Amino acid sequence: MKIQSIRGVKDILPGEIEKWHKVEAAARRVLAPYGFQEIRLPIFESTSLFKRSIGETTDIVEKEMYTFTDRGGDEITLRPEGTASVVRSYIQHKMHGQAQLVKLYYMGPMFRYERPQAGRFRQFYQIGAEALGSASPLVDAEVMTMLIALFRDLGLNGVELQINSLGCPECRPPYRELLKDAIRKHLDELCSNCTSRYERNPLRVLDCKVERDREIALTLPRISDHLCEGCRENFAAVQEALTSMDTPFTLNTQLVRGLDYYTRTTFEVVGTEGLGSQNAICGGGRYDTLVEEFDGPPTPCFGFAVGVERLIATLPESTWQDIAKKPDLFAVLMGEKAKRRGQALIQTLRAAGWYVELDYEGGSMKSQMRKANRQECRFVLIIGDNEIESGTYFLKNMTDGQQVSIDSDQCIEMIETHLKTP
Ligand code: HAM
Repeated sequence: MKIQSIRGVKDILPGEIEKWHKVEAAARRVLAPYGFQEIRLPIFESTSLFKRSIGETTDIVEKEMYTFTDRGGDEITLRPEGTASVVRSYIQHKMHGQAQLVKLYYMGPMFRYERPQAGRFRQFYQIGAEALGSASPLVDAEVMTMLIALFRDLGLNGVELQINSLGCPECRPPYRELLKDAIRKHLDELCSNCTSRYERNPLRVLDCKVERDREIALTLPRISDHLCEGCRENFAAVQEALTSMDTPFTLNTQLVRGLDYYTRTTFEVVGTEGLGSQNAICGGGRYDTLVEEFDGPPTPCFGFAVGVERLIATLPESTWQDIAKKPDLFAVLMGEKAKRRGQALIQTLRAAGWYVELDYEGGSMKSQMRKANRQECRFVLIIGDNEIESGTYFLKNMTDGQQVSIDSDQCIEMIETHLKTP
């Protein structure tokens, strides 16, 4: 039987993983000055955590969760996202007791049973950040600015930050009713998905991807015209702060997001090329009531999650220019004495952090040189039994073809001097 990985799930192999390392390192570097600290969250949680936070009528909870009963009879779900776990952890560990705004980031796999296609997987990875404990519009603007700084750091410029406000528990319910009334007039024109869910989740009709529905959605009342005064002022303040932080954005009044916990500012970052229909690289926004809904103290929050596969697919080729790890040195060892001496030398150089390769099969000089060439190493160290006798080794710079003699007594120092020259 041929064993294959499961549909919608993939290996990340050497050659590709270097891109991931670069993206993850950039995230750690860019987020640190903003005060974000890493949190490692469990891969699975109680099913009820996701049902209650993401929302019973969302696609994720209705159709996409990997849920099972464990051997103890508990209902478990592989996390489809990270925000719910952050909120659980925040409450469980009483982080609200901290004087400062709590700023956390996470990286790792998420699981959704979606129909696999380009840019959509069943196991995919997110880099997410959550700021818990402030309602200030400055937090919204700063976190979105940080995200754009991450994209710029990675050489990505062709993206659009789209923002909207979804209102609050005061202004959203009356808008929802208004929207339902307006949708009702179009029920025989909308797709079956929209007609079946408009009663329970009418806002989702606004971002249906079916062409005819999109046309109708544009004629429906916009939440931006029905925000309460507090939300209107808040949204204006977010936009003002974004402008003063030099972070370009566009308003997208159709943007509603697929998770129910959002209040006020919501946003997506959309790739302008290379992603096809799955073009949202990142999504996020405010969730001011979620902590309270889980019996924590009132705690307004703002956060986002980047889809790592989609981000990598959008990044330009130039981002990956210098990521391939090539050997600093390849040791060509000819003869028994040379092999023994060479082995010790290689271990010492590796302990000092140099990437050293060799031909484990120990073929002819010609075939060892061929392997050194194929691995694109910077230097080749040549030691044969004659060199052991004479106490002089040879070091060849593969970039310019220059060869120098190395005194065996000081070979580590001399080799390192050459390796350190750029
Ligand atoms: P989300 O929009 O569901 O938000 O997911 C965020 C990002 O994850 C998407 O923009 C996309 O890039 C990526 N993504 C989602 N599903 C898939 C998939 N099946 N395959 C590949 N990539 C995917 C959230 O998850 C929220 N927790 C974001 C958030 C954090 N809001 C506040 N804090």
